[in-house]
Amino acid sequence: MNYNLSDNIKNMKPSAIREIFKSLGTPGAISFAAGNPSPESFPVEDITRIANKILAENASASLQYGTTEGFMPLRELVTKRIADKFDCAKDGDMTIITSGGQQGIELFCKVMCNRGDVVVCENPSFIGALNAFRSIGAVPVGVPLEDDGINLEILEEVLKTNDKVKFLYLIPTFQNPAGITTSLEKRKAVYALAQKYDVMILEDNPYGELRFAGENVPTYKSMDTDGRVMYCGSFSKILSAGMRVGFVCGNETVVQKMVVAKQVEDVHTNQFFQMIVAGFMQECDMDAHIAKINALYKHKATLMIAALEKYMPKEVKFTRPEGGLFLWCTLPEGVSLDDFMKESIAQKVFVVTGKAFNCDESAPSDSFRLNYSMPSDEEIDKGIKILGEIIAGLIEKAK
Ligand SMILES: Cc1ncc(COP(=O)(O)O)c(C=O)c1O
Repeated sequence: MNYNLSDNIKNMKPSAIREIFKSLGTPGAISFAAGNPSPESFPVEDITRIANKILAENASASLQYGTTEGFMPLRELVTKRIADKFDCAKDGDMTIITSGGQQGIELFCKVMCNRGDVVVCENPSFIGALNAFRSIGAVPVGVPLEDDGINLEILEEVLKTNDKVKFLYLIPTFQNPAGITTSLEKRKAVYALAQKYDVMILEDNPYGELRFAGENVPTYKSMDTDGRVMYCGSFSKILSAGMRVGFVCGNETVVQKMVVAKQVEDVHTNQFFQMIVAGFMQECDMDAHIAKINALYKHKATLMIAALEKYMPKEVKFTRPEGGLFLWCTLPEGVSLDDFMKESIAQKVFVVTGKAFNCDESAPSDSFRLNYSMPSDEEIDKGIKILGEIIAGLIEKAK
């Protein structure tokens, strides 16, 4: 049988991260590859109580079809929370509940882009978003991400020379994969460029509440004076990833089109889980819950940074995130990322190659992503020691 697959899907590869999951069962393996929240962060008792209550008091609504826009009480709670925390939700905006932030990203791209249209992204960027854009036939074009955000000169050049750009996809806070937070100055400059070249911004902020150090930086959405910014968020990293509850807030006309597109995809986000999230927001102290998660991640990130300082050759550069789940390591010149990846897999310490996050899939990389939310304290120390020894060996070899 000749399976004549569509052009859209034919050239898409499985996510490097999902592939790594398959190796994780290996005994003795240490994984810094996941993007998962720590299972310790799940409020299991509260969720059990709320789930039981919903089934006892409101089974028919929770097991029935719901509206595509989302469970109304949850839409209202989300809108209020992002307005209070991030100055989102402007006049003329509307919130839709999506099946994870992932679906919000995909729906927005579907509504905005024709085949061949361009989405400008930070390079490196979130692989799930890049693949969503590709699956629709949109082309992610990368602009280098620097320590304080995207490179403004290159961004302007791309906007000036490319009339196919539909929107900028940006993860300004605790970026995945690099852990970088874009400075306020750069955010203002990026917003001004978006206005100058009349393109939209999709602000993806699933990690925004996971700050364990430093000061909050205003969102793009808070600067939005002309309905240009779509704000995408998620409960995956603050409540439960498996529930698949995310949201997008932005211009009502655009969101209404996303509703139409979502109807075709999954009719609506799981009603029962939407009701659990709403119940949690009503009955529990979300801020106190997130504070506990942040204390845990602060501890893990501090351990990982200490291990990197102790075991990595001094030529290795790494970011020091103030929140989120990741840090980003860059190998010294002359050390091949492919050799490092081969050796780390052989020694059963899993990281994600920087290549997976490139907008141009054939482009080289000298970096890799480390996650600190999943490994145990012992694994962090042991795994980073092994990685440090591998890199030291490769530096020696390169001499
Ligand atoms: C930057 C970014 N955006 C969006 C998502 C999507 O998360 P979810 O679909 O679980 O809400 C992720 C998940 O890892 C992410 O890292």
